[in-house]
Amino acid sequence: MAYNLLKGKRGIIFGALNDMSIAWKVAERAHEEGAIFVLTNTPVALRMGELDSLAEKTGSKVIPADATDVNALEDLVKQSMELLGGKIDFILHSIGMSPNVRKGLSYDKLNYGYYQKTLDVSALSFHKVLYVCRKLDAITEWGSVVALSYVAAQRTLYGYNDMADAKSLLESIARSFGYIYGRDKKIRVNTISQSPTLTTAGSGVKGIDRLLDFSERMSPLGNATADDCADYCVTMFSDLTKKVTMQNLFHDGGFSSMGMSFRAMSQYDKSFRDCPELGD
Ligand SMILES: NC(=O)c1ccc[n+]([C@@H]2O[C@H](COP(=O)([O-])OP(=O)(O)OC[C@H]3O[C@@H](n4cnc5c(N)ncnc54)[C@H](O)[C@@H]3O)[C@@H](O)[C@H]2O)c1
Repeated sequence: MAYNLLKGKRGIIFGALNDMSIAWKVAERAHEEGAIFVLTNTPVALRMGELDSLAEKTGSKVIPADATDVNALEDLVKQSMELLGGKIDFILHSIGMSPNVRKGLSYDKLNYGYYQKTLDVSALSFHKVLYVCRKLDAITEWGSVVALSYVAAQRTLYGYNDMADAKSLLESIARSFGYIYGRDKKIRVNTISQSPTLTTAGSGVKGIDRLLDFSERMSPLGNATADDCADYCVTMFSDLTKKVTMQNLFHDGGFSSMGMSFRAMSQYDKSFRDCPELGD
C-alpha cells in the first residue's frame, strides 16, 4: 500500500545489485511512494547487467560510481542533481564488502590490506558521500541520509569478522557527521541496524543459515525482511521522521534487546538431549 510519503522527493540509492538486495527493495518502495531517484553501483556491479531492469521499472537512471572514489562521487552527485532537476532529499548507503570474509581469513589472521579495504568500502565511503554532498551543498534542508548497519557493531557475533569494525565506524560517522550536518543544514543522518537477510552480501557471512534461524528464534517479532527494511527506510526518508538524527535504529524484530527467548531455549535444550555425554 502506498501513502505518497515521498511525493516530489529526489534521491540517490547506492547498492542495488540484484533483486535480493535491500537497496533494490528500497528503490521499489521509494518509487511506489512517489520518489524519483538515481541508482548507482560500481562499474563492475553494473556490468552484471541486472540493474537496468530495476531502472526501467522505477523510471530511474543508472550512474556508475565506486563509493570509495571521491571524484567519482562528485560526478555522481552533480549528474544526479542535473538529471533530477534539483537538490537531493534522500540518500541510501547500502554498501558492504570484506575481502577478508571473501577469502575466509578469520579475525585473528586478517590481511591488513584487505582490512583497510573493508573499512574503506563499508564505512569510509559513507563519510565520503556525506563530505561530497556537503561540499556541493547537494542535500535539501530536512533531507535524510540512511546507511545500513548490523548489530555486530555492538555485540560480537561469530563469523562477522572485520565487518563488525566497519559497522562500528559507520555508526560513529553517522553521529559525527549528523551533528555537523544537522547543526548547519538541518540534514538528518542515521543508520538502520537490520536483521540478517539472505542477500549476496548476507550469504558471505559465515553460517548465515544458522544465524538466520538463531535470530528468528530470539526475536519476538521474528527477523525483519528486506521488504520490511524498505518500509522503514521510506519512513526515514519521509517528512514524518524530521527530528530523528544521529541514531542507530534497530530494525530487527526485537533481537538486540533479547538475552534468551523461550524458542531459542527450547532448541538449545533439544541439542543437549542430542548429546548423550552432556545429558541429564
Ligand atoms: N544481508 C544482511 O544480512 C545484512 C544485515 C544488516 C545490514 N546489512 C547491510 O546492508 C547493506 C546492503 O547489503 P545487502 O545485504 O543488500 O547485500 P548486496 O550484496 O545486495 O549489497 C551490497 C552492495 O554493495 C555494493 N558495493 C560493494 N563495493 C562497493 C563500492 N566500492 N562502491 C559502491 N558500491 C559497492 C555491491 O555492489 C552491492 O550492490 C550492506 O551495508 C550490508 O552490510 C546486510
